[in-house]
Amino acid sequence: MLIRSRRRSEATRGEVTPRAIYDRRREFLRAGLGLGAGLALGVSAWPAPAGAALRGMALEYEPSPFSTDEALTSLDEVTTYNNFFELGTGKSDPHRHADSLVTDPWSIRVEGACENPGNYALEDFVNPWALEERIYRLRCVEGWSMVIPWIGFELNRVIEQARPESRARYVAFESIHDPENLRGQRRGVLDWPYTEGLRLDEAMHPLTILAVGLYDEVLPNQNGAPVRLVVPWKYGFKSIKSIVRIRLVEEQPPTAWNQSQPGEYGFYSNVNPEVDHPRWSQATERRIGAFRRRRTEMFNGYGEEVAALYEGMDLREHF
Ligand code: MTE
Repeated sequence: MLIRSRRRSEATRGEVTPRAIYDRRREFLRAGLGLGAGLALGVSAWPAPAGAALRGMALEYEPSPFSTDEALTSLDEVTTYNNFFELGTGKSDPHRHADSLVTDPWSIRVEGACENPGNYALEDFVNPWALEERIYRLRCVEGWSMVIPWIGFELNRVIEQARPESRARYVAFESIHDPENLRGQRRGVLDWPYTEGLRLDEAMHPLTILAVGLYDEVLPNQNGAPVRLVVPWKYGFKSIKSIVRIRLVEEQPPTAWNQSQPGEYGFYSNVNPEVDHPRWSQATERRIGAFRRRRTEMFNGYGEEVAALYEGMDLREHF
């Protein structure tokens, strides 16, 4: 692993770009090489493979007023106790098989009901946007939670850049599909690739971010490298990892867990201690690393920011 275990005590203000990527790209551009030239020479002259270029680099970011000041879950636990079914169904599988996720090269397609669709190399996708540290609670539907210092940017920036048409009402996300390398995808545990979705107003909400790092460093593979969604008021499975496609759509899109077990996993999946999972209570949770169980909060404690999105909706019906 190339992540460092130290944590920077202060975020750097003013430096809003992942500096190393930016410098590297400028160097490349200065060298006057482009895709065409690379192809003509028969060599790869395009910037170093995106995933590889990001890996092991310190990210520059700003702190955010949206961060919680609760105690952080240790880096060790954040990176060894994971759900990433593409890498296996056990909690330690994603860490153990992290290297089989190939993030190099990586591109992200933004498409659908929008005026400005695009196919982005990772560095072009991340570069134009300021990075922030967002320390969020993550509550898993299985009853455990963590507090994670993510580094990312608001998803609404990507959506604004795509210029959604007025008919766009939802956003659909898709993860990498690579059964050759991803052992989990050689089994039918889920209908691959992993998919997720949000209503457009949920996706535009400032709390919804795309994360490219955690604990100061580029996202480890097991946490969804090179780019994953984080929606802190929803159960963890909505925070889809290793995204390759973002699509603006008119109808509520199918999502992996809802398709697999519709009675257990709804489209909304807002953290809600009053609506139990059919097989267990959601009233309490175990914070990883802490001893006592704690009460689960409505919307995972983000109610002040997001409750208005669901005014007038029956959250038992729309679970
Ligand atoms: N994304 C993909 N592509 N595949 C997955 O299996 N698991 C989800 C979510 N995103 C998953 C995924 C679940 S169930 C949870 S709880 C979170 O990722 C866990 O994120 P973490 O491992 O970074 O804590």
